[in-house]
Amino acid sequence: MTAAIRAADIFNLEGQVALVTGASSGLGWRFAKTLAANGAKVVIAARRLDRLKALEEEIKADGGEALAVALDTSDAASIPAAFDAAEKAFGLVTIVVNNAGFSGIKPTVDVTAEDWRGTMAVNLDGVWFVAQEAIKRLIAAKQPGSIINIASILGMRASKTLAAYIASKGGVIQLTRALAVEFARHKIRVNAIAPGYIETEMNSDFFKTDKGEYLMRGIPQRRIGDPSELDGVLLLLAAPKASSFITGSVMTADGGQSITLDH
Ligand SMILES: NC(=O)c1ccc[n+]([C@@H]2O[C@H](COP(=O)([O-])OP(=O)(O)OC[C@H]3O[C@@H](n4cnc5c(N)ncnc54)[C@H](OP(=O)(O)O)[C@@H]3O)[C@@H](O)[C@H]2O)c1
Repeated sequence: MTAAIRAADIFNLEGQVALVTGASSGLGWRFAKTLAANGAKVVIAARRLDRLKALEEEIKADGGEALAVALDTSDAASIPAAFDAAEKAFGLVTIVVNNAGFSGIKPTVDVTAEDWRGTMAVNLDGVWFVAQEAIKRLIAAKQPGSIINIASILGMRASKTLAAYIASKGGVIQLTRALAVEFARHKIRVNAIAPGYIETEMNSDFFKTDKGEYLMRGIPQRRIGDPSELDGVLLLLAAPKASSFITGSVMTADGGQSITLDH
């Protein structure tokens, strides 16, 4: 057995280069700041470059290192260029947070072919292409890495009027397991975080409505989460020393919502 280790050492990300997709708002914004605060150089990617530039400045002002890169993850052909930019600035990407995604509530009979394809293109195809690009480069460089896919408890449970989102997140969970098994021998770990409801600018108004409050009462902790409450699980999965034996896991952070039948 090795000597005891301090938390500050086990979660230290110095020497790591992290790419966070969907970093221009919500959870991705927080993930990027958390990784940078713990020593990683972060490449922040999304379509809204102005917002990424603001985040880049914020991280730099806090003493971290960041690079904003415009990226539409649904456009597979654009992904290698984002990795090239990351490598040029900071070196090989060793941590990927596949966070870009969206959900649209619509009765299934009204979902168009474009709605379906659009959801899959970002929530599942994008995760696949970004992971594949990262894995190819890690294998070529013979380096270990950590891929963290942001799924949802809706990847395991179901709810009305969200069928495409649910199917895409279920796909993310199975993709996580498939890649974990295939690339374990290359020391590439692939895990997923399955958040429950977390307050972001997109949904904060909803949770003040009657429907939102009703939904909250079904969560054992009787509240939704704050983005900061994913910091611990993110750092655990990102840090090679903290999670060296963890791959193919789906870590739920949902205040107990997904395991109860009560409401
Ligand atoms: N908040 C929750 O309660 C919750 C719960 C479970 C799972 N999740 C998952 O967590 C992730 C983040 O959600 P959030 O709540 O933080 O939502 P959000 O605030 O709407 O953030 C979504 C991010 O994805 C980016 N994005 C969307 N389409 C993109 C594309 N084609 N290419 C690149 N980036 C794209 C957006 O940036 P641009 O518009 O600038 O491209 C934005 O930065 C999603 O995968 C979501 O499914 C969230």
